[in-house]
Amino acid sequence: MKIRFMNLCFTVILGAIALPSWASEDAEISAQMSRSGFVLENGLAIPAFDPVLGRNLFASKGCVVCHTVNGIGGEDAVEFAAIYMEQPMNAFDFAANMWRGASAMIIMQEDELGRQIELSGAELAAIIAFVHDAEEQAKFSKDDIPDDIRELMHSDDEEEADHD
Ligand code: HEC
Repeated sequence: MKIRFMNLCFTVILGAIALPSWASEDAEISAQMSRSGFVLENGLAIPAFDPVLGRNLFASKGCVVCHTVNGIGGEDAVEFAAIYMEQPMNAFDFAANMWRGASAMIIMQEDELGRQIELSGAELAAIIAFVHDAEEQAKFSKDDIPDDIRELMHSDDEEEADHD
């Protein structure tokens, strides 16, 4: 009887410790769900396509070093303008185009950025939303570009100036 009581106490104490962490995990998942897109019936999650986050990532991840949006960016690769994007556009086609250009892109990224750009699925979705959103692209300015990325673009300008 005593042992049972001890067991019960143990369970209650453990439960009390574990409950808040379950609760916060649930809260985190539901927060994520509201930030993100939705889950299909087959269990595949469709991330949020957030063009505002995409504008930020296009600059901070360094895409802007080689690709131009709204007249701002490098000219080593194709320009992205929403008006040239297909309507409707399959988001995975953009990823497939990146895959096609991957070998050239990775060599150039290692050369100009010193590394290959890492992206999560949600980050890529945001960038895709940005390249497809004319209104958000019109807001893109040099102020969106963080200093470390701007420096990479500067050294490009200087190199060009040296050649002149
Ligand atoms: C260091 C230069 C560089 C950086 C940085 C870079 N790219 Fe590229 N990208 C290229 C090159 C080179 C190609 C292949 C040639 C081309 O298609 O212009 C390419 C091709 C692509 C293509 C295929 C274009 C097409 O329609 O054929 C997409 C899409 C693309 N890049 C997206 C991105 C995104 C998104 C980022 C940032 C996460 C990024 N790139 C960062 C150089 C770069």
